[in-house]
Amino acid sequence: MTKGEPVDEPSAGSTLAVETRGLTKRYRGGQLAVDGLDLLVPRGSVFGFLGPNGSGKTTTIRMLMGLIEPTSGAARLLGAAMPAASRQVLPKVGALIEGPALYGFLSGRDNLVRYDAADPTADPRTRAARVGTALDRVGLTAASAKKARAYSLGMKQRLGLAAALLQPRELLILDEPTNGLDPQGMREIRTLVRELADDGITVFLSSHLLDEIEQVCTHAAVMAQGRLITQGTVADLAAGTRGRLAVTTPDTADAVRILKEYGVTDLVVAGDRITGEAPTSHLPDAEPLDLAEINAALVQTGVRVRGFGTERASLEDAFVALTGEGFDVVG
Ligand SMILES: Nc1ncnc2c1ncn2[C@@H]1O[C@H](COP(=O)(O)OP(=O)(O)OP(=O)(O)O)[C@@H](O)[C@H]1O
Ligand SMILES: [Mg+2]
Repeated sequence: MTKGEPVDEPSAGSTLAVETRGLTKRYRGGQLAVDGLDLLVPRGSVFGFLGPNGSGKTTTIRMLMGLIEPTSGAARLLGAAMPAASRQVLPKVGALIEGPALYGFLSGRDNLVRYDAADPTADPRTRAARVGTALDRVGLTAASAKKARAYSLGMKQRLGLAAALLQPRELLILDEPTNGLDPQGMREIRTLVRELADDGITVFLSSHLLDEIEQVCTHAAVMAQGRLITQGTVADLAAGTRGRLAVTTPDTADAVRILKEYGVTDLVVAGDRITGEAPTSHLPDAEPLDLAEINAALVQTGVRVRGFGTERASLEDAFVALTGEGFDVVG
């Protein structure tokens, strides 16, 4: 290994920020945690790594970061093989894995100073500025003098993120970054992730919350029991399922009749709520049926319409359609 700048810049040339081939981890106890994973994370994406508890997300992330050895298969980060290229690649990768290691007796700010000081490439003269900027970015400036042991879970999570952001990064790998945060804190992290993405940083984040992935990610992979079920753009994954038409009315019998006339199929009545598949919504080239027409017809027939609209097709629908199950922990 030669010193100085590597001649073969590992991050150049690859359009993939993360790539795995048959990545597999069997723990010593025999548990097959990750099973033949082929993951393709485009550069510039906000990539959601989705799966229920125990599906292998953290195990995968540990292998990506070179923290544990795969049983078989290979992983590349920013175009370079891991863990062989760790020394060149990891400085460009910020990571937050299952709660950061913090010194409780130090303030938030001093924890960051320690992280920064542990980085041999970090110039001590600009340390205070880097730490200040990172604190600011995660909204911890006001709480920066407080001891880390007095931080809430959400504040600790933010401090961990600040540590990952001390240096300019090409890739951020965040393991459940909103775990333990209140709704406001989750929103703030989502906003931060979007800002980082706007700066051109690829963000790979794991979550067991479908809704969160839908709100912030451009791409996603779905894991279940160590296996990849699907991956692609969030739009494509959600497009696999159509939104259903939903009508709320006390006059369900009349409403069902009108809806049938308009070609709505698969009608389900539950109390005062009717749902069904709106016609043509799955035919991209067809003239889309104006749903307002159906609404008007209902009203003209004397049906008292209290609610009318389409349920959004969600990743959750896609997940259920893919696995035939709910989003529960299995085994
Ligand atoms: N060190 C370990 N030794 C043995 N088995 C492990 C170890 N770490 C994880 N496992 C097992 O591997 C499987 C995957 O765990 P992992 O932590 O990767 O899941 P996860 O998707 O991150 O879950 P969560 O959403 O709860 O964080 C689980 O069945 C878990 O019990
Ligand atoms: Mg985990």
